[in-house]
Amino acid sequence: MVRCPIDRVYHSSLMQDLFEVLKPGSADWVVANSIDPTRLPAHIAIIMDGNGRWARRRNLPRVAGHKAGMDPVRNTVETCTRLGIQALTLYAFSAENWKRPRAEVDMLWRLLRMYLSRELPDLLRNGIRFTCMGRVDQLPAPVRRELENAIEATAHNSGMRLNVAINYSGRAELVDAVNAIVEDARLEGRLRDLRIDEQAIASRLYTAGLPDPDLLIRTSGEMRISNFLLWQIAYAELYVTETLWPDFRRADLLHAIVDYQKRDRRFGSLGPAGATDNEWVEVAGSLAR
Ligand code: FPP
Repeated sequence: MVRCPIDRVYHSSLMQDLFEVLKPGSADWVVANSIDPTRLPAHIAIIMDGNGRWARRRNLPRVAGHKAGMDPVRNTVETCTRLGIQALTLYAFSAENWKRPRAEVDMLWRLLRMYLSRELPDLLRNGIRFTCMGRVDQLPAPVRRELENAIEATAHNSGMRLNVAINYSGRAELVDAVNAIVEDARLEGRLRDLRIDEQAIASRLYTAGLPDPDLLIRTSGEMRISNFLLWQIAYAELYVTETLWPDFRRADLLHAIVDYQKRDRRFGSLGPAGATDNEWVEVAGSLAR
C-alpha cells in the first residue's frame, strides 16, 4: 500500500473491498491507510463485553444493551470480510452465562436466532462460512435448529469463517479434547500405551483446522480472559479497549489492527534484534574464566 495525499490515493488491491466503502479523508479512511495489508491478523477473536454497562448508563434494562450489541456484530463481520480476514471468532455466550436471570438468557437466544435468520442472506452473498463452538447440544431446540440451518447453508462457502462461541468454556473444550483422545485410543485398543502430545490436543479442539487467533480484542476495559480460547491464545496479541461493545465501531476495529501491527511478535525467540551466536560464545567464555 502506498500512502499519499488525499488527491492521489493508491491502495493495495488486498484491502480494496474496504476502501470501496470508505469516504476519502474520513476518520476511518485515515486509520485504514495506516494498516499494512500484507500483515493482517489471519484470525481475530473478540470478547464482546459491556452490554450491561452500556444499558445501565442510559437507565435501560440490560437486554437493551444486548439489542444494541447487534449492530457492532453485523458491522464487525462486514469489516473483517472486506479486510480479507480469514477467521473471526465472537464470544456470544459463555458456559457461565447460564447464571444470569432467565429473562436475559432467553433474550440472548432470541437475538441470536434473529441475527441468524436476518443475516443468513448476507452471509451467503459474501461467501462467509458460519460455524459455532461450545456445548451446543445443551441449547434450546429452536436455537440449535437455527444454528444447524446456518451451518449447513454456508458449509460450502470458502470466504471468511465466522465462528461464534455459544455455551463455550475454554476449560470444558480442553476436557472434551482429552476425553476424545482417550475414547479414540480405547476404541483402537491403544489405551495402555497412550501418550498425549500438543498436536493430539490441538486437533481435537473445537477450533481444529483454524489458525490460532493472532489478535484477541476485549471491549469494556476488563483485563480478563474469562475462560475464552485458553489453549489457542498462547501467542495472541491482546488488545483491550475501554469502548463498550454496543459503541464498538469500524474505527475501533481498525485501531486494534494498527496497534497489533506495532507489536514485535517473537513467539518466544529473540527476534532479529536478539543476541548472535558469537555473543553467546563470548559470554560462555567469560563465565568459564
Ligand atoms: C457481555 O456483556 C455480552 C454478552 C454476554 C452477550 C453478547 C451477545 C450479543 C452482542 C448479541 C448476540 C450475539 C451474536 C453473535 C448475534 P455483559 O452483559 O457481560 O456486559 P456487562 O459486563 O457490562 O454487564
